[in-house]
Amino acid sequence: MIPLPLVNHRVGRAAVTCEYRCGDACFHDVPNTSDNPYFGDLVSRRTALKAGAVVAAAATVAMPATAAAAPAAPESKGRPPRGLDFKPVEVNTKDEVVVPEGYEQGIVIRWGDPLFPGVPEFDFDNQTAAKQEKQFGFNCDFAAILPLDPLELTGIMVTNHEYTSEPFMFRGYNAANPTEEQVKIAWAAHGLSVFMIKRSLFSGHYRPRFSKYNRRITLNTPFEVRGPAAGSDLLKTSVDPTGKKVFGTINNCAGGVTPWGTILSGEENFNQYFANAAGRNDPRLTRYGVTGTATTRKWERFDKRWDLAQEPNEVNRFGWIIELDPNDPDSTPIKHTALGRFKHETANIRVADDGRVVAYSGDDERFEYIYKFISNGKMKRGNSKAARRHNMTLLDDGTLYVARFKGDSPASEIDGTGKLPSDGKFDGTGEWIPLAAGKKSFVPGMTAEEVYVFTRIAADKVGATKMDRPEDIQCHPRTGTVYCALSNNVERGVTPGKEGATEPNPRVNNRHGQVLELTERRGDALALTFNWGLFLVCGFPDDPNTYFGGYDKSQVSPISSPDNVAFDRYGNLWISTDADGKLDGLNDGLYGVPLEGPERGHLKLFLTVPRGGETCGPIIGERVITVCVQHPGEVDGASADKPVSNWPDRGTSRPRPSVVAVWRKGRRQLGEIG
Ligand code: FEO
Ligand code: CA
Ligand code: CA
Ligand code: CA
Repeated sequence: MIPLPLVNHRVGRAAVTCEYRCGDACFHDVPNTSDNPYFGDLVSRRTALKAGAVVAAAATVAMPATAAAAPAAPESKGRPPRGLDFKPVEVNTKDEVVVPEGYEQGIVIRWGDPLFPGVPEFDFDNQTAAKQEKQFGFNCDFAAILPLDPLELTGIMVTNHEYTSEPFMFRGYNAANPTEEQVKIAWAAHGLSVFMIKRSLFSGHYRPRFSKYNRRITLNTPFEVRGPAAGSDLLKTSVDPTGKKVFGTINNCAGGVTPWGTILSGEENFNQYFANAAGRNDPRLTRYGVTGTATTRKWERFDKRWDLAQEPNEVNRFGWIIELDPNDPDSTPIKHTALGRFKHETANIRVADDGRVVAYSGDDERFEYIYKFISNGKMKRGNSKAARRHNMTLLDDGTLYVARFKGDSPASEIDGTGKLPSDGKFDGTGEWIPLAAGKKSFVPGMTAEEVYVFTRIAADKVGATKMDRPEDIQCHPRTGTVYCALSNNVERGVTPGKEGATEPNPRVNNRHGQVLELTERRGDALALTFNWGLFLVCGFPDDPNTYFGGYDKSQVSPISSPDNVAFDRYGNLWISTDADGKLDGLNDGLYGVPLEGPERGHLKLFLTVPRGGETCGPIIGERVITVCVQHPGEVDGASADKPVSNWPDRGTSRPRPSVVAVWRKGRRQLGEIG
């Protein structure tokens, strides 16, 4: 029988996923113990004090506005918006990828598939580190396709491999005593994969090809550290006295494609890989959740760099945004210190009118912050190697900011239930607070190097706004509006001493998350002030605390824990989820939703992934949609010895994290999606 995720688990997620992906982040105390208050509360309370009588009078006549009572958008007339002409799939718990009627699917690549000629086919029981170095890694998360032709028949695909789940990778795995080969397989299964893909004119089924582009980035790949903290004493180790060369990247979660054709990737839950923080008594470690003695994976037994007692600075060399040029397989990937160090979910670029570039990034942990970087240099157009080389320096020199949000409704109307305030919206204004620019720090008591390496602490000091797990952030390609998935935060207003509801994070015990829209003032990417509003307040539509852009909630699909966001060419938003059972044990999925017009907020479920899996890295192409299926079958009680999923190979096989392509069938030449 199939064991379901334990319902008494604190966030609904399978405990095994918590342990291996995030280092049990939810079970540790929230690392943000700063007491910087929510600015909106301060302002609202001050306003209330100044104009108390008026507010009180208004409160007595205000209608009890609820999300359920929000005016529904007018019924749509005629066809659905372009790109979203599909019948939504039903929520389910199937061990398969479920797609709408009229669509087909195929596996692009699976964990262990060879990326180079001569590499043997994957053999679950005879895996080696040498093979894994040349095969597709584990737990694919972010994915990008750089098209090599206008019809998207060929492309370079790049994927992150966020983490390894050893109990699902090895039969008879002994977590207390992993073997050296198992540990080295895990080092090779992390990182990124780069490979060429190809499909026919008549099918959306991308398949991998051996090519000059194919490459694996693992924990053995050298990276160049760049930007203002490169060479800092805080980054020097016994192996690297320069503080400028790091082997590898870990826990790469989401990412982005730059306008100059490179890939950005966020090093997220790096803390869990470092042993022996206990006893060091260093609050800078605690602020990043680096705690405890032995790690889950025990890597510290096989390389001292994972042991803080022996290499205290190695941990400072992770938690960055990396940049990789997939066009040049010989290029050295970069760690960009100017974007700060935290649990980067992702980074995505918007180009300002004058050519400077802006990078947005979120710190994915409960009560953490949203950041913005503005470059000093300007982007060079064109796809030449020289232009790319120049553009790859843009993220080394600029100013790093953190967001402070202010609600426009009185704090008394943000009661933590999700009930809309009397102005009918969770919305307001905000500002970007500077942290550092080059060698200049804007944070009292911290040098610029300290701001870059201990960015969370710097952001605490300037009163940044604590958010409900900032996940993917992307700018709408046409409007420039910034969309940020805020996944969930079951500690908001629940854990004693922790912040309660605020207008941008309006629910206590926030199980299902929200999607934020942020518009820079006057639409200017370089602006230091913005307007914001919540586009979605997620959950079951019949729950009065949910909100779907004002759309008729009887028409929308349920959604929990938005994680990745993407856009199609018509400007619709696509959202993939990492609810891990929080939606009553239902599988995660990919959703499409219009952002404009009468259909704004009409969220529809496009596909679901197999049980225990998470939908990641959506790419909404013109004719093919691809998603990564991360950790299929990863539910409590399951393992390689007791698999509960046989996806995708079926029979008695073990589940394999894989990339899936979905396309519309029934046309001689492949039709458009939606
Ligand atoms: Fe790795 Fe923020 O999800
Ligand atoms: Ca408001
Ligand atoms: Ca994510
Ligand atoms: Ca995730």
